[in-house]
Amino acid sequence: MMRDHAPETYAEKLAQLQELKYEAIHAGSEAAVEKQHAKGKYTARERIEKLLDPGSFQELDVFVRHRTTDFGMERNRPYGDAVVTGHGLIDGRRVCVFSQDFTVFGGSLGEVMSEKICKVMDLAEKIGCPVIGINDSGGARIQEGVVALGGYGDVFFRNVHASGVIPQISLIMGPCAGGAVYSPAITDFIFMVKETSHMFITGPEVIRTVTGEDVDMEHLGGALAHNTKSGVAHFASEDEDQCLADARYLLSFLPQNNLESPPRVLSADDPARADPELDQLVPDNPNKPYDMREVVHRVLDDGEFLEVQELFAPNIICGFGRLDGIAVGVVGNQPSQLAGVLDIESSEKASRFIRTCDAFNIPIVTFCDVPGFLPGTAQEWNGIIRHGAKLLYAYAEATVPKLTVITRKSYGGAYDVMGSKHLGADMNFAWPTAEVAVMGAEGAVNIIYRRDIAGSPTPEERRAKLIDDYKAHFANPYIAAERGYIDDVIIPHETRPKLIEALHMLATKRQPGPRRKHGNIPL
Ligand code: HXC
Repeated sequence: MMRDHAPETYAEKLAQLQELKYEAIHAGSEAAVEKQHAKGKYTARERIEKLLDPGSFQELDVFVRHRTTDFGMERNRPYGDAVVTGHGLIDGRRVCVFSQDFTVFGGSLGEVMSEKICKVMDLAEKIGCPVIGINDSGGARIQEGVVALGGYGDVFFRNVHASGVIPQISLIMGPCAGGAVYSPAITDFIFMVKETSHMFITGPEVIRTVTGEDVDMEHLGGALAHNTKSGVAHFASEDEDQCLADARYLLSFLPQNNLESPPRVLSADDPARADPELDQLVPDNPNKPYDMREVVHRVLDDGEFLEVQELFAPNIICGFGRLDGIAVGVVGNQPSQLAGVLDIESSEKASRFIRTCDAFNIPIVTFCDVPGFLPGTAQEWNGIIRHGAKLLYAYAEATVPKLTVITRKSYGGAYDVMGSKHLGADMNFAWPTAEVAVMGAEGAVNIIYRRDIAGSPTPEERRAKLIDDYKAHFANPYIAAERGYIDDVIIPHETRPKLIEALHMLATKRQPGPRRKHGNIPL
C-alpha cells in the first residue's frame, strides 16, 4: 500500500498498521486462493486456525519481506513472505507452528522464509515446546538460487539440533520436492494427505527423462506410496481436516520436551479391570494366527490405540495408548501378518518408534509373539543383520520403563531382541501359552536328532516322539522363569492390572548411561 504522505496522527498510524496486516493476510492473490481451495486444500492460515485451539494463534514476523532484487522480484515483496509462523495452543498446551503459503510464490523457500522458520524453531527449542511444520511448497525459490539452498540447510541444521529435544511434527499438505523432503524426514512424525500431498527427490518428469520409467505423482510420492512402500510417512489422512485433527490427537501422547513426561489423561477405565476374553485369545495350535491388535485394545485404557505406520511393515504394530492414564508406546509382533516374523522393514519401523518413545520419556510395552527373523537371500543381501541390529540397539539403549509380555512364541535371536530382560527390560511377563526356545520343535528336532531319526527303523514315529519330548521340555515359559528371565507367568486376563502396577512401580526409574559423545547405532 503506497501512501502519499507519511502517517502523522495516531489514527493514521493505526490505520497504517491495519492496512499492512490486511496486506499480509491477503498476500496470496484471490485466484491463487481459489486454485488452492479447488484442489481440496486449505490456505496456510486456514490450516493454522483449524490446527490450534480457537483464537490462540499469535503470529510472528508479519512484516518480514524478501530482499531479493533479481528477476524483478523487487516489484513483488508481500508482507510475511510465503510462510505464516507463530505459536498457539493445542488442548491448552503451547506449540510453535510454521505453515508454508502456496498462494505466495508457490510457497517456495527463499532467504527470509528460511529465517522465519528458523526463528520459530529456535523459539520452540528455547521454550521447550513441540514444533509443527505444515509443508506446501514448490521447493527452493528459483529466483534466489544458492541463497535458497542455504536456507534449507539452516532449517535442516535446526531439525537435527532439536531432534530428541522437542517433538517435531511435519504435515505434508502439498508438494514437497527435492532436498526439501529432508527437513520432514528428520522430524519425528510425518502426516500426508491422500491425493493432495507428494514427497519425492525428483518428480515424474525427471524420472521419465533419466530412467524412462513412467509413474505419476500419486504413485511415486503420494500418501499411500510413503505409508505402505517407503515407510517415510507415519500417517495417511483422507483429507486435510482429518490430518489436522490427527496431529492434535498425536500430541496428546507426547510431552512438551525431553525433560517432561506426557500429560496423564485419566479415564473411567478401571486399572484393575481383568479381561477374561484374553484367556481365549491365543489359539491352541501354535501356528494359527490371531490379531495382536486385539490384545492391545483389550489391555489399554478404553481400548484406545493410535497406531503409527499402520500401513507399513504390518508384521509389527507400533502405536500409542494409555495405561491408567499414563501414555505408553506399544510394540507388538503381529502373528496375523507373515506369522509376526521380524524382517528388515519391521525392524526399522519398531526401532525408530522405540527411539522416539525413549527420547520423549514414554514407557515401552512390548507384546511378543515372534517365530524369529525372516530367512532368505533377499533379507540377507539387503542387510537384515544391520537392520535387525537397530532394533536390538534401540531396545538396549532405551532407558524409559520397559515392560514385556510374551503371549506365545519367543524364538531364537528374536527372543533377545523383543524387549528381553537381557536388553534391560524392567518387567517381563509371560502367558502360560508362551514358548521360549532357540527355535520351534520341528526345526530343532531335525537338527539335533538327524542321525538318531535316520538310524531309526521307524523314522517318522521317532521324529514325532522327539518333537513331543522337545515341546514338553521347551515349549513353555518355565525354563526362562526358573532363571528369572521372566519375572512372572501371569494369567492373560491379569495383563492390564499387572502392567499398570509395574508402570507405577517404575515411575521413579533412574538409569544413567555411560559418558560418551553418542553411541554408534548401525544405521
Ligand atoms: C519460485 C515457484 C517455485 C519455485 C512454484 N513457483 N515453484 N516460484 N520457485 N521453486 C511459483 C510458480 O511460478 C507460480 O507462480 C506459483 O508458484 C504456483 O506454481 P504453479 O506451477 O502455477 O502451481 P502448480 O501447477 O500447482 O504446480 C506446483 C508445482 C510446480 C508442481 C510445485 O510449481 C513446480 O514443479 N515447481 C517447481 C518444483 C521444483 O522443481 N522445485 C525445486 C525442487 S529442488 P505464479 O506467479 O505463476 O503464480 C529443491 C531443492 C531444495 O527444492 C534443496 C535443499 C537442499
